Amino acid sequence: MAKNFDVVVIGGGPGGYIAAIRAAQLGFNTACIDEWKNAKNGPAPGGTCTNVGCIPSKALLQSSENFEHAGHAFADHGIEVKGLSLNLGQMLARKDNVVKQNNDGILYLFKKNKVAFFHGRGSFVKSGSDGYEIKVAGAAEETLVAKHVILATGSNPRALPNAPFDEKLILSNTGALAIDAVPKKLGVIGAGVIGLEMGSVWRRLGAEVTVLEALPAFLGAVDEQIAKEANKLFTKQGLAIQLGVKIGAVTAGKKDVTVEYTDSKGEAHKDVYDRLIVSIGRVPNTVGLNPEAVGLKLDERGAIVVDDECKTSLPNVWAVGDVVRGPMLAHKAEEEGVAVAERIAGQHGHVNFNTIPWVIYTSPEIAWVGKTEQQLKADGVAYKAGTFPFMANGRARALGDTSGMVKFLADAKTDEILGVHIIGPMASELISEAVVAMEFRASAEDIARICHAHPSLSEATKEAALAVDKRSLNF
Ligand code: FAD
Ligand code: NAI
Repeated sequence: MAKNFDVVVIGGGPGGYIAAIRAAQLGFNTACIDEWKNAKNGPAPGGTCTNVGCIPSKALLQSSENFEHAGHAFADHGIEVKGLSLNLGQMLARKDNVVKQNNDGILYLFKKNKVAFFHGRGSFVKSGSDGYEIKVAGAAEETLVAKHVILATGSNPRALPNAPFDEKLILSNTGALAIDAVPKKLGVIGAGVIGLEMGSVWRRLGAEVTVLEALPAFLGAVDEQIAKEANKLFTKQGLAIQLGVKIGAVTAGKKDVTVEYTDSKGEAHKDVYDRLIVSIGRVPNTVGLNPEAVGLKLDERGAIVVDDECKTSLPNVWAVGDVVRGPMLAHKAEEEGVAVAERIAGQHGHVNFNTIPWVIYTSPEIAWVGKTEQQLKADGVAYKAGTFPFMANGRARALGDTSGMVKFLADAKTDEILGVHIIGPMASELISEAVVAMEFRASAEDIARICHAHPSLSEATKEAALAVDKRSLNF
């Protein structure tokens, strides 16, 4: 017999599970269907983010940074480490345990909020007068009928043509998070977020890493001044970054992968890597959803077509996160999930795309919100800029981590903050102040006049805001 729900969410990643919790909080009888399986074929809600994305990558970034600090940075603090060695098995097991804690946490939250969870694949069967009929196939075999459906089926890694992922030698993010021995030579195709984060992990653990990027500019979406600084620092750390390459044949052998490419000068190369990570973007996922059964409209990229409010082409069917337009970020998916649940309840859910922060968890971290300097120039906006280097920040000196800067961009007339860009220690945490400021449409002077704790990295934010008016106190 079919089970009836007010809201059925398909996909239990950050977009889906958060939408389900918010819908349940608002009093709807809610179900969430997710098909992700753990190593024992049990449920593993949390999607890409929890299982093979944000969480495991940050676990390995932390572990590998600890290893690098123990090997290189501790001596400067007067801590001598002898006989340092890497137990990669333990590092990977710890990462798996961090993932499991997050999976279990979501299952607990479903129980707490009375969200019915179904472990299996959800697909549309038909729409009728009661709502949408959805079949669940997998560990749970059920038919659900929903008045409202929220689609949050996420994305999949994009493969190179003629070089499918085997997750042994040619790796997507999934394989890149589970290499069982540090490769001597690691190739990375795509100097985007995944390429830089995973390239950093394996470099810190001892791999010789080459990153091959098609575009002539490094981190094109990042403020140019920050991207230039990042390129300099990552190259100094040992990442061999090649821009403007054209990838040719990629051939997996028995133990290694050969990559043929031409460099920016047109010279041909044939490199052999022990492992190759391909991180050239992701594609929206609607595999198994059976959108044709109900006539759900997809665009040419395979993304579900939605309007500004995440409404699809069908009444009472909504879609959020990586499977729709906009940045592929967990917090963007979450915000859309909350907004949709609130709209179903007749409230005014809202997502401000201009204040979605971005973070790249390299060392130093890169974080930004709002417009870059090159965007303001292209848009013809008159602006003032202020920067402050961490070199001049007392807390950064005490930490022994003085690379990078904070940069403010403010409207030349009104002083409203238009963008904040950080490369440096804990940039991921520091950016929140800028997000709050921009949400409240603060001016640079507002931040400059707020008391910041001393000594703290956030003083660099205050100083960069002061620098907009050329009145830094410590630089
Ligand atoms: P997903 O997380 O992909 O979840 C979709 C879920 O739906 C999956 O569990 C899938 O199995 C399930 N599903 C799909 N179809 C069906 C179906 N028919 N029936 C049942 N279940 C189905 N973002 C950040 O903001 N910060 C980061 O630090 C970050 N790091 C990342 C690192 C890596 C290596 C990668 C790959 C991504 C990272 N991201 C990060 C991006 C982030 O993971 C995604 O933006 C986010 O997971 C999108 O959430 P979602 O809910 O839309 O989809
Ligand atoms: P990306 O879009 O960040 O970077 C892909 C890079 O590959 C680009 O620089 C692109 O120019 C390059 N590229 C594309 N085709 C190429 C080719 N044929 N040869 C060489 N280079 C090529 O995508 P990535 O790194 O795969 O990550 C996917 C998404 O996952 C990100 O856009 C982001 O939304 C999300 N993510 C977010 C993280 C975070 O927030 N910290 C961490 C990791 C991923």
